[in-house]
Amino acid sequence: MSRYLLAIESSCDDSAVAVVGEDRKILANVVSSQTEAHRPYFGVVPEIAGREHLKHMPLVYKEALAQSGLTLDDMVAIAVTSGPGLVGSLMVGLNFAKGLALASGLPLISVNHIRGHLRALFLEYGEIPLPALALIVSGGHTHLLLVERDDRLVLLTKTRDDSAGEAFDKLSKMMGLGFPGGPIIDRLARRGDENRHEFRLPRFSDGSKDYSFSGLKTAALTLIQKDPALYANQDQTAVYDLAASFQKAVVRHLMQRVKQACTREQPQSLLLGGGVACNSSLRKTFEAYGNELNLPVFLSSPKLSNDNAAMIGAEGWRLFHDGCFADLSLSPDLSSYPFDDVRLL
Ligand code: KG4
Ligand code: ZN
Repeated sequence: MSRYLLAIESSCDDSAVAVVGEDRKILANVVSSQTEAHRPYFGVVPEIAGREHLKHMPLVYKEALAQSGLTLDDMVAIAVTSGPGLVGSLMVGLNFAKGLALASGLPLISVNHIRGHLRALFLEYGEIPLPALALIVSGGHTHLLLVERDDRLVLLTKTRDDSAGEAFDKLSKMMGLGFPGGPIIDRLARRGDENRHEFRLPRFSDGSKDYSFSGLKTAALTLIQKDPALYANQDQTAVYDLAASFQKAVVRHLMQRVKQACTREQPQSLLLGGGVACNSSLRKTFEAYGNELNLPVFLSSPKLSNDNAAMIGAEGWRLFHDGCFADLSLSPDLSSYPFDDVRLL
């Protein structure tokens, strides 16, 4: 009989609880999104996020247990995201998990959110040929990692400023399109000419191969400010063209480092995860590149790409098997790294 783990995620604006089996079966994966609460501000407001988690977490927990058909007594441990993320948001999930651990006597497991995004791919696909090159792109992070072994991640590069998701969100905000911006830009880009504007990709005088998205954002802002009327209404060719050209630049920049990393590291497979893995152009380009190299490509499905607790449960199982448990002093760890070593491109 399989064993089960309860997983809790609250690092940003999604309150999520999942029940995940040791056999990778997901019995429940409930996510309560706060999009409506943050929409008027075109971004996540930390103060609101914390309060919303407080309201929703108990209900999401109840719903997840109901869907799984299990009780807390059927679990072997409680995995919870401890960072990185918004401190007020993390605190709600952590305290909720600690309360359950205290009441039930179950052990606690502290999970890094970005490692969770990566582990979602193993949850979905099981065996993945290693070493694997993993691009994890979300609203808060952009990391290119080499998965050398199941438990050993090497950082190859990351963003020095905005994340790729943030770039999409900010462009959407600049054009008054809505929140979250990524899916909106993705949709509008399909109607636009991606060659209408040529965005220069970042270059650093010291030769650094960091990712960087703030320059692209500034270039887009300059275009909008030159002729605001052109972008005042979302049903305009200018909006579609800017969305498409911007998306092309983001994808080119992401792929530029992926290609450099592949040449150097010669991985056995390519992995794409995190919320921005939902982007249709990135998925297509990433997959095509893998095919070109004859490498197996693993793309996380949208349900497991966006923030969820099943991915936290999957990483929780890895830590459970390694005997890595936390105690009740567990607190938000904003600087927790999703890697064991660094070998910059
Ligand atoms: O992983 P995630 O759900 O949360 C964080 O850990 O940040 O990622 C959310 C990010 C947001 O910035 C959102 O705009 C972006 O993922 N995103 C997309 C798409 N769907 C979500 N970006 C581009 N294209 C999409 N289709
Ligand atoms: Zn995330």
